[in-house]
Amino acid sequence: MKSFHRICCFCFLLPHFIVLSDATDTLALNETLAAGKTIISSGGTFELGFYSPDSSSNNRYVGIWYKQVSPVVVVWIANRDVPVNGTNGLLKVTDQSKLTIFNGEGTAIWSTNSTRLVQKPVAQLLDSGNLVVKDAADANPANYLWQSFDHPTDTLLPGMKLGLDLVKGINRYLQSSKSKADPSRGYFTYQMDPNGFPQLFLMNDSIPQFRSGTWDGTQFIGSPGLNSNPLYTYEFVNTPQEIYYRFDLHSSSVYSILTLNSNGVLQRLNYNPRNQDWTDYLDAPADSCDDYGLCNAYGICSIASSPFCSCLDKFVPVSPFDWQTTDWSSGCKRRVPLDCQKGDGFLKYSGIKLPDTRHSRYNQSMSLKECEKLCMKNCSCTAYSNSDTTGKGSVCLLWFDNLIDIKKLSDSDQYIYIRMASSELGSGSNKGKIIVISLVLPAAVLLLVLSLILYFKKKKKKQQWTQTEQLSGEVQIGGTSERYPSREYDKEDVDLPLFDWQTIVQATNYFSSDNKLGAGGFGPVYKGILVGGQEIAVKRLSEYSMQGLDEFKNEVKLIANLKHRNLVKLLGCCIQAKERILIYEYMPNRSLDSFIFDHDRSRLLDWPKRFQIINGIARGLLYLHRDSRLRIIHRDLKAGNVLLDIDMKPKISDFGMARIFANENEANTKRVVGTYGYMPPEYVVDGYYSTKSDVYSFGVLVLEIVTGRKNRGFTHASHNHNLLGHAWLLYKDGRFQELVDDHVSKSCYLSEVIRSIHVGLLCVQQFPDDRPSMSSVVLMLASDRALPFPKEPGYFTQRNLFFEPEKSLSSTKADSSSNQLTVTMLDAR
Ligand SMILES: *[C@@H]1O[C@H](CO)[C@@H](O)[C@H](O)[C@H]1NC(C)=O
Ligand SMILES: *[C@@H]1O[C@H](CO)[C@@H](O)[C@H](O)[C@H]1NC(C)=O
Ligand SMILES: *[C@@H]1O[C@H](CO)[C@@H](O)[C@H](O)[C@H]1NC(C)=O
Ligand SMILES: *[C@@H]1O[C@H](CO)[C@@H](O)[C@H](O)[C@H]1NC(C)=O
Ligand SMILES: *[C@@H]1O[C@H](CO)[C@@H](O)[C@H](O)[C@H]1NC(C)=O
Ligand SMILES: *[C@@H]1O[C@H](CO)[C@@H](O)[C@H](O)[C@H]1NC(C)=O
Repeated sequence: MKSFHRICCFCFLLPHFIVLSDATDTLALNETLAAGKTIISSGGTFELGFYSPDSSSNNRYVGIWYKQVSPVVVVWIANRDVPVNGTNGLLKVTDQSKLTIFNGEGTAIWSTNSTRLVQKPVAQLLDSGNLVVKDAADANPANYLWQSFDHPTDTLLPGMKLGLDLVKGINRYLQSSKSKADPSRGYFTYQMDPNGFPQLFLMNDSIPQFRSGTWDGTQFIGSPGLNSNPLYTYEFVNTPQEIYYRFDLHSSSVYSILTLNSNGVLQRLNYNPRNQDWTDYLDAPADSCDDYGLCNAYGICSIASSPFCSCLDKFVPVSPFDWQTTDWSSGCKRRVPLDCQKGDGFLKYSGIKLPDTRHSRYNQSMSLKECEKLCMKNCSCTAYSNSDTTGKGSVCLLWFDNLIDIKKLSDSDQYIYIRMASSELGSGSNKGKIIVISLVLPAAVLLLVLSLILYFKKKKKKQQWTQTEQLSGEVQIGGTSERYPSREYDKEDVDLPLFDWQTIVQATNYFSSDNKLGAGGFGPVYKGILVGGQEIAVKRLSEYSMQGLDEFKNEVKLIANLKHRNLVKLLGCCIQAKERILIYEYMPNRSLDSFIFDHDRSRLLDWPKRFQIINGIARGLLYLHRDSRLRIIHRDLKAGNVLLDIDMKPKISDFGMARIFANENEANTKRVVGTYGYMPPEYVVDGYYSTKSDVYSFGVLVLEIVTGRKNRGFTHASHNHNLLGHAWLLYKDGRFQELVDDHVSKSCYLSEVIRSIHVGLLCVQQFPDDRPSMSSVVLMLASDRALPFPKEPGYFTQRNLFFEPEKSLSSTKADSSSNQLTVTMLDAR
């Protein structure tokens, strides 16, 4: 018997199993499989049988799931649209060579379309998860009569093809289930679109939601989990016979699937045997910029900008007024119209997800130079590119219409040459390039680079139209195989300034208590003023945090490389004997808690500011969790760790601190980092930590921002719940207005306020798996899609567990022995 003890979105209640001792992977002719019996693939990986996704219903389905794994994930369903009523169903291979499901009355309700009749048909569950119908005497895969891999449900397994077999006329695509309890076909599909250069599309019915982007030689640039990774190999085949995408795993002991859930989110799930859990590795759509065509023609979407959409450099909004009111539907147009007769040229834009290629034309073996000629010759050609950035192939893409669905991706090597009036090609800055660079380099270096670019651009421009060789020479892209481990260091390594001890001592006036700003989780923080007048914040790390000098420098460098508008900038460090000091930019408005919990100062934060703060924190956290490539878990997110700049924009501080402390000796690694009131139950009780713990802390923070009340120490006259329980009860009753801080003019922004409370409650749900990822949170805050109803929050019934004064746990020494904790900080993508 298997026990299905974990509760999560993939848990299915299975009827009682009698697992046959003589486990078999094959169903022979006329043999029947009834409810309660299963067949198991030869290697023991997969199991097939009747199951019920919903204990309250009589519906039974024939499905395939991972045998060794709990929580159970059903990866394929035979009769998803026609359930068997009750437990009397039978699965049988008939003498028509068909695998057939019969209901209790003996009527066939589902059957395979086997291609021909054979003498001894059998059904076999292979260890790949493929269920095949074949002739018992013929093992050749090419002669299978039928296979489940040709008829996916909502899950792509390793080795399974997603796409078209143009010879046999098979289209393999994922289609979502209606809901967890009802596996019948839902709205959403993820399928290969063969028009133009093939791409994968996530559709809601016939409306595109998300586009995978263009295959760059190793990956679909905008797709989940497809970034270079040592675990996987990816394959994209585009021939006259077949167009498909497929992933495979180097190790068969790793379980990883791509699944389209009933909310239309594509998830890459990896099974972690240590935690016995599925980890949501990456989602798509991941952020607002994944919404298909959000910024429309010639708009570029950048998730790090506010607003998301801008026009490409040298393009202007078609309707400036609409554009300013963030209605981007009319898109952008060229500042200077094209004039093909006078001769146009091309301008390069890089660091992007290439625009939609459904109306493009392509040649998979044409050099960029020829490609340019071809585009130049035809006045209706708007742009060209070589989509293969590996340097191994050369795929010429030509666009003939408006360019749509361009996303800024700083880690993309893709670029495009867009047709431009000749007058635009002269002097002037080339923003397309600059945007990308400015993400990774400080301003001073930027200036230098800028002038260099301009210098070389001018130089190149002269050569460009005389010497075309020069052009193809420019497009030299290195191999990608070593990209995964080396990237972080190659591209974004900055030299971390080392401040000398005397400078810091003077700046802080000998760490005078007058300069002390507060005591964070890892040591006191002082305000300092450098000789030039620059204000800084100086964090003096507690002594017991000692780690090796080199490790410390490495960690600090990594953290200094994390750059985002919603993260406090690390300026440098100082090392002196046993002292370790971090120097940050100074935030004049101090921390969020000094506003929202203060009767007078809270007036300064009206709703638009609060909503801006909530969104900013969400984006900063998303960056840490996903986009930074280091996958930092903050572990101590709280109002005191959110600093406000002069415009009241939020910046998260103290991120990455857990990393600095994680490399210590054994005993100290077991320290629990976090603050009571913000820590989720699974962390306090089991020491189990994941990005979902940060999501929990974020949820607490959102509710605190909306209500102006502290979670910890919250009291109410009529009940004994904490803030989370209080909020949940009121929200359930539709009395959310009572939750909102008096200083928030709620009526004007009602829908935003309600949405924020709703998202906050989703984030603090008791079980980590129920909580959304930060990418979903950002999406939820930005859209007005319907949200699921939040379940009970963690600690709903367990208040008064803790009485300690509010402070970060890591600052107390005493806890180090009693708390166990696995630190999973570094998990590069
Ligand atoms: C399978 O069942 C069919 C119909 O019940 C029967 O005609 C046939 O002889 C059976 N074949 C074998 C090999 O048992
Ligand atoms: C399923 O069977 C039960 C009793 O066996 C019956 O009451 C119910 O109406 C059936 N449901 C459907 C949808 O046929
Ligand atoms: C069998 O083929 C028919 C017609 O081609 C198709 O409508 C049906 O969906 C197929 N069934 C399965 C299980 O593939
Ligand atoms: C998908 O389409 C259906 C029907 O048009 C609509 O009701 C639903 O809201 C859409 N869902 C999303 C997430 O767009
Ligand atoms: C692609 O370009 C190459 C090189 O110019 C040419 O030889 C080939 O015929 C082209 N293929 C197609 C399908 O046009
Ligand atoms: C330019 O390309 C378009 C779209 O492919 C095509 O219809 C048109 O005939 C081409 N024009 C010339 C002059 O080749």
